Amino acid sequence: MELSNRLKKVPPYLFVEIDRLKSEKLKEGADVIDLGIGDPDLPTPAEIVEVAKRALEKPENHKYPSNAGAFFYRKACADYMKRRFGLDFDPETEVTTLIGSKEGIAHFPIAFVNPGDIVLCPDPGYPVYHLGAIFTDGEPFYLPLTWENDFLPDFTKVPTQILERTKILWLNYPNNPTGATASKEFFKEVIALAKKYNFIVAHDAAYIEMYYEEPPISIFEVEGAKEIAIEFHSLSKTFCMTGWRIGFAVGNATLVSALAKVKSNIDSGAFTAIQEAGAYALNNLEKITPSLIKVFKERRDFLCAELERLGYQLKKPSATFYLWVKVPEGMDSREFCKKVLQDLAIVVTPGVGFGSAGEGYFRIALTVDIQRLKEAVGRLATLKF
Ligand SMILES: Cc1ncc(COP(=O)(O)O)c(C=O)c1O
Repeated sequence: MELSNRLKKVPPYLFVEIDRLKSEKLKEGADVIDLGIGDPDLPTPAEIVEVAKRALEKPENHKYPSNAGAFFYRKACADYMKRRFGLDFDPETEVTTLIGSKEGIAHFPIAFVNPGDIVLCPDPGYPVYHLGAIFTDGEPFYLPLTWENDFLPDFTKVPTQILERTKILWLNYPNNPTGATASKEFFKEVIALAKKYNFIVAHDAAYIEMYYEEPPISIFEVEGAKEIAIEFHSLSKTFCMTGWRIGFAVGNATLVSALAKVKSNIDSGAFTAIQEAGAYALNNLEKITPSLIKVFKERRDFLCAELERLGYQLKKPSATFYLWVKVPEGMDSREFCKKVLQDLAIVVTPGVGFGSAGEGYFRIALTVDIQRLKEAVGRLATLKF
């Protein structure tokens, strides 16, 4: 059976080789340290699980959920935006529940992209941005995130004809995979550009609560952003809830309602019991997250110092649980990651898997405990080129 032209355009999965080598290593009985997957190793905090258990027992939660999300959950999202950023959003019209932010990010272009429209995607970046463009017959245009520019896109390098055809600009700060954050000045520049060329700014804020220094800002802290922006939030990393599939989109009412309209024709909403747990988590964010952040901060501090000691080049991230590290001179990112896996049984992700501008880097996810990180450092110290 022939695949659709759209599916044919989806590039091959670049981590296939690493996955295969990892399985081989595990079969050999090697003690593999996996720093590849961006999935927190810590369990969901017990108090959130307890709320979910009680919510599971309620028969009213066993029915189809409300499409746009339960009001109590959307209100918890709006209350969070108010407490954390001082911003007002109407839970009825400016917030919609997502079955994880990936789902919203993938579906959003269906609401706005016509064939041939440009979708600006950061490179390196979360692959769902350009896949959403491909699935809607849009054209991804890649914005390189470079070391020299602190992993922010340089819009002066985007041709005017491209900006004129742009429908959506994707941004993601704090950033996966680079760990970079963006300033208010940067977001101001973005909003001004988007207004000039009349495109939508879609900001992926999946890591906005995983920070170690200054709290990262919402794009809506820039005046006028609500006229043209939507922001995607996730409870996955914030509360170690990746498997629960819960997030939300917030912003301009037209953008939010268009996304909700697409979704109402595809899915049937997030399980209400999980929205109860999610609302509890958001309402208690300030109490729950400090102990989780402390764990990742300790790992970040340890591994950044040790990698520098071993001669690796990286910018210490102030947010996310990723380290974006330069591959030693003379190797490409896939070669390096293969060698690290073959010789040391450590899984790290080749930067090129996140886009061609990711070549020359590898990504480490801080998803094992400090003892295992010490073991990984010990092994890295023995790596011979
Ligand atoms: C940048 C970025 N955005 C969005 C997501 C999706 O998160 P979720 O669908 O679990 O909310 C991820 C997950 O790894 C991510 O790295």
